[in-house]
Amino acid sequence: MTLLLEVKDMTMQFGGLTAVSNFNLRLNKGEIVGLIGPNGAGKTTCFNVITGEYIPTKGQIVFYISENVNGQIVSKEIDITRSRPDQITKLGIARTFQNIRLFKNLSVLENVLIANHLNVKSNFLTAAFKFPAYQREEREMREKSLELLKELGLEKFKNEKSSSLPYGLQRRLEIARALATQPKLLLLDEPAAGMNPQESIELMNLINQIKEKFDLTIFMIEHHMPVIMGVCERILVLDYGITIAEGTPKEIQNNQKVIDAYLGVETIA
Ligand SMILES: Nc1ncnc2c1ncn2[C@@H]1O[C@H](COP(=O)(O)OP(=O)(O)O)[C@@H](O)[C@H]1O
Ligand SMILES: [Mg+2]
Repeated sequence: MTLLLEVKDMTMQFGGLTAVSNFNLRLNKGEIVGLIGPNGAGKTTCFNVITGEYIPTKGQIVFYISENVNGQIVSKEIDITRSRPDQITKLGIARTFQNIRLFKNLSVLENVLIANHLNVKSNFLTAAFKFPAYQREEREMREKSLELLKELGLEKFKNEKSSSLPYGLQRRLEIARALATQPKLLLLDEPAAGMNPQESIELMNLINQIKEKFDLTIFMIEHHMPVIMGVCERILVLDYGITIAEGTPKEIQNNQKVIDAYLGVETIA
């Protein structure tokens, strides 16, 4: 097993409120790990800390990248605790948002193209002076974006305004945008929210499919139990910012603490 991301003893406070306490996570390459818990438990805050939106009050976030040094693969440890979101994206961590954040008035293809721009080598000067190189990059980006749309089953909507897509497809487009930055680690914040059972099943297949195709590691927050239990190998449970359980889907389903804090309530609701 190769370690990809480590969150060490992370605490995030907002004023007097402790949103997350002493959170620990070790993600291995190729894993799909779930994060569940009641609303307000601190799940999205964990994502915001990992992606550099917030600097944690305490603790450390380490991302491990493999580099080819003179033909040898060397693992390098990068402390991203204080890195900016754009730097973290460039290192290979991408996310989707609980509240969909698409450019509503742009087309499906344009939404992916914009995300793709993050990875372009040309800066403004090369764009102005080395026009052919810039044009070639533009063309390549367009091709790559179209390929992504195809992979996610969105190609036929490429010229539609993103806001005109049904909700489930907008969530897919969010995933396409995240993939456009060529991540190694993908964080999904409630990807099945608002989806009907059929769409949820398709989403599960999609998650497995992109994981294989793009060689991803996935860390996901989700309330739909069939989705989280169906795709995750391992699940962490947060309650009031505290990790109350960690284990396989089966262990989590049978954990009394989890049933009391979360699953019991879900079943009633
Ligand atoms: N930027 C912020 N400022 C103040 N409080 C916040 C902020 N972000 C999150 N919180 C609070 O932290 C707690 C955890 O929120 P969140 O991580 O969004 O929970 P979850 O995603 O599990 O529903 C909540 O009480 C929320 O109100
Ligand atoms: Mg949330």
